[in-house]
Amino acid sequence: MNRSLSGRPEVTRRDPAGDCLAVDRPILQAPIGSLASVDLVVAVSRAGGIGSLALTWTDAASAARQVGAVKALTNAPFVANFVLAFEPIALSAALDAGVPIVTFSWGLPGPLVKSVHSAGAAVGVQVGTVDGAHRALDEGCDFIICQGVEAGGHVQSSTPLRILLPAVVAKAGAVPIVAAGGLADGADIAEVIRLGASAAMLGTRFVASMESHAHPAYKAALVAADSDATVLTACFDGGWPYAAHRVLRNSTLQNWESAGCPPSGRRPGEADVVARGQRGDVVRRYDDMPPHSRLDGDVLDCCLYAGTGVGRITAVRAADSLVKELWHDASVCLGRPGNG
Ligand SMILES: Cc1cc2nc3c(=O)[nH]c(=O)nc-3n(C[C@H](O)[C@H](O)[C@H](O)COP(=O)(O)O)c2cc1C
Repeated sequence: MNRSLSGRPEVTRRDPAGDCLAVDRPILQAPIGSLASVDLVVAVSRAGGIGSLALTWTDAASAARQVGAVKALTNAPFVANFVLAFEPIALSAALDAGVPIVTFSWGLPGPLVKSVHSAGAAVGVQVGTVDGAHRALDEGCDFIICQGVEAGGHVQSSTPLRILLPAVVAKAGAVPIVAAGGLADGADIAEVIRLGASAAMLGTRFVASMESHAHPAYKAALVAADSDATVLTACFDGGWPYAAHRVLRNSTLQNWESAGCPPSGRRPGEADVVARGQRGDVVRRYDDMPPHSRLDGDVLDCCLYAGTGVGRITAVRAADSLVKELWHDASVCLGRPGNG
């Protein structure tokens, strides 16, 4: 595609971004780290949305297997995501295996944009500021993910989505914008589309899906949580220091806050192993690892990522019917009920 936005390099590639986001139901399942299963990605993409594999902490062989597994089950578009706070060690393997869309977060991709385009895939970059959006556009990305401070998981932004999104939309010209952060139902999706987004990306809502790898107790905690249950914190920094994240309040967080939020090395229960996996893997109290379904122990003491939309999650749902219902409800809110 050749774009002619003023001052920006023109980019030539095989798979125009406009096409890659032009799905029946413009809802992206966010990359939700280790909780993003192949089954989840396939279910979302088959339902007319766009699923995302989270391949940052995956080796090349496993990344190729996951991309191949999704492609074997659907021809629909899906994403491989890489958090650029870490080396994207599996990017080449994911591209070689034929992933159609790559997204980056926590950094600008620079020369990686060319590598992805050369492989025929489209590039999205998650940003948390207008200036970040400007830089991502200058680098030739095909779409922007605009993350507001309401987001669950690691949070790049310090600005509410309803303020940031219109400013990023105004900056982006014809480049599509995906809105993310605190979105949980059809009315939320309709609102961001009214504000100029081409699609919505939901993370926490899909953690509480049947197909996610999240521990059942974590899913139940999301369903039970009120809208004021989340906090933006630096508490769970094991594995990824100096990166703000939004979580449900739990006993680990409350005890740390009650102790005066002491730094690493002086935190209450710092050496505790709170949960164990069947392969001998352990989760320590302040690790950044959310609880997956094969862990035993005090899983609710682990890091429970959640966005501010959590109060509107009322049940653990199958991803297929969830995507369809979300878009149906959004279409009704937008006054286009036939679209859902
Ligand atoms: C459990 C969990 C894990 C996440 N892991 C990633 C990740 O691996 N890469 C990434 O770019 N974003 C990750 N995110 C953030 C999402 O990309 C997205 O910005 C966020 O989920 C949107 O907010 P919401 O959760 O309120 O819908 C994660 C979010 C959650 C809840």
